[in-house]
Amino acid sequence: EDVRISRISSSIRVIPDFPKPGILFQDITTLLLDPVAFKDTIDLFVERYTDKQISVVAGVEARGFIFGPPIALAIGAKFVPMRKPNKLPGAVISEEYSLEYGTDKIEMHVGAVQAGERAIVIDDLIATGGTLLAAINLLERVGAEVVECACVIELAELKGRDRLGKKPLFVLVSP
Ligand code: PRP
Ligand code: MG
Repeated sequence: EDVRISRISSSIRVIPDFPKPGILFQDITTLLLDPVAFKDTIDLFVERYTDKQISVVAGVEARGFIFGPPIALAIGAKFVPMRKPNKLPGAVISEEYSLEYGTDKIEMHVGAVQAGERAIVIDDLIATGGTLLAAINLLERVGAEVVECACVIELAELKGRDRLGKKPLFVLVSP
């Protein structure tokens, strides 16, 4: 376990001052370049959610689209994309969330998830928790049960975990 986590952790590149001065950007594209680290990442999530009767894996655009689908396929669940505004062609429900400056929105297709389904939400990283909270709200609005949220990276000092309240959060690395 520790071997896999260490490899994942060291495969993530840290880029200072991106996208603006003072931000230490956690770049998962270098994790994707290491097939062992990438597979270990997916396997750790799959091991956790196999046999938990999860029928929905929701992933948030864009980086949740990288990690969500392989997990969904491996556990036999559907993958539900949560997209940035005005991208989905069908009827949508949307949820606004706050950013450092201003607000953003994510949308989900109506009918993608049924009431009573058991869901997990996957993203690459939790910072303030606003994105995951919006995803949870979308799923709960249609009557799904959000069993857990899962990320590769948690920026713990931003306290996003607290913002999720009592909703469980599973993360692999906390730099
Ligand atoms: C990043 C990251 C998470 C989110 C975390 O996405 O991929 O989705 O921020 O921040 P939060 O916990 O403060 O909400 P971003 O919106 O930058 O876009 P991207 O995934 O499309 O690159
Ligand atoms: Mg994102």
